[in-house]
Amino acid sequence: MMAGGSPRPPGAGGHWRFIQHLYFHPASRKMQNPELKFVVLGTGGTIAGAATDASDNIGYLAAQRGIAELVRGVPALAEVALEAEQVAQLDSKDMDHTVWRTLALRCAFHLARPDVAGLVVTHGTDTLEETAWFLQRVLAPAKPVVLTAAMRPATALQSDGPQNLLDAVVVARAVGAHGVVAVLGGQMLGARDVRKVHPYRIDAFSAGDAGPVGVIEEGRLRRFRAWPQHGAALGVAVLPTDATAWPFVAIVTSHAGASGAVISALRAAGVRGLVVAATGNGRVHRELEHALLEAQRDGVQVLRSTRCGNGRVLDAETPALPSADDLTPAKARVELMLRLLAPAG
Ligand code: SIN
Repeated sequence: MMAGGSPRPPGAGGHWRFIQHLYFHPASRKMQNPELKFVVLGTGGTIAGAATDASDNIGYLAAQRGIAELVRGVPALAEVALEAEQVAQLDSKDMDHTVWRTLALRCAFHLARPDVAGLVVTHGTDTLEETAWFLQRVLAPAKPVVLTAAMRPATALQSDGPQNLLDAVVVARAVGAHGVVAVLGGQMLGARDVRKVHPYRIDAFSAGDAGPVGVIEEGRLRRFRAWPQHGAALGVAVLPTDATAWPFVAIVTSHAGASGAVISALRAAGVRGLVVAATGNGRVHRELEHALLEAQRDGVQVLRSTRCGNGRVLDAETPALPSADDLTPAKARVELMLRLLAPAG
């Protein structure tokens, strides 16, 4: 895939953001229940991507199509009262804290509207799992916030975006829906569990050991278990306006030949939190572990996750380096950053 997104609009500075005029699908005026309105927030990704050749699944540009166009591309959505808003237009590998804050604020705004029953967020697949955990921890919404994405661009022969978008709306409309979930490939995955496990296949997402919360079949959600619960919202007020004020939290990997050199460099650069993607059951190379313990003694917060991709870190006794439980390293980084922004107690 080529890097990129839409060119920056003239005059836009820094991280650009634009809100298109709210798009209200004409057919939605015929909606049966005007109280059940849903907002679809677009942030870019492959779901909004375009290639010059329909059989090209990798040489495309992400974030080329506007959210209103994506919604219009799913005829069944004409029956739903939807508003569409473009919050960002980027390749999610370039997701940053400024866009996260903007997205959280727009979500909070629409969630507070009494006429809005739920939100759908279109996103790139690459960092969707981080955004899912970020939004869950910040908003812990009583209404549904459903993230969706696609592994094939909008122009592809095998484009999965339209079905995923439709399925996401089905989940947002489900009775009792709440919290942040992801909908991809016909599955509904919890914010804490969702992870990208394949770089190319359409079936690229998993919920690890937890498994999917449910599946979407022919416009219906079949739920296997209760909607996930994850505690109280931290609130958008904890998010600094200034991107440079977000705590610097990095991920380091334990591997054969690992050393403390990377920790020294990160500490010199002002790191405040470290997540170690440890081997196996949370085990860390002795050289790296020594440097991490030293950093922890000096006030850098450390969380220990596993690089295995599935499962959780199991400790027989209280560990010197606290474990991230079942959070993947990428989600543990989000968690640690938010803990630094909103220390408990
Ligand atoms: C992205 O993450 O924005 C590009 C890749 C994708 O959506 O599959």
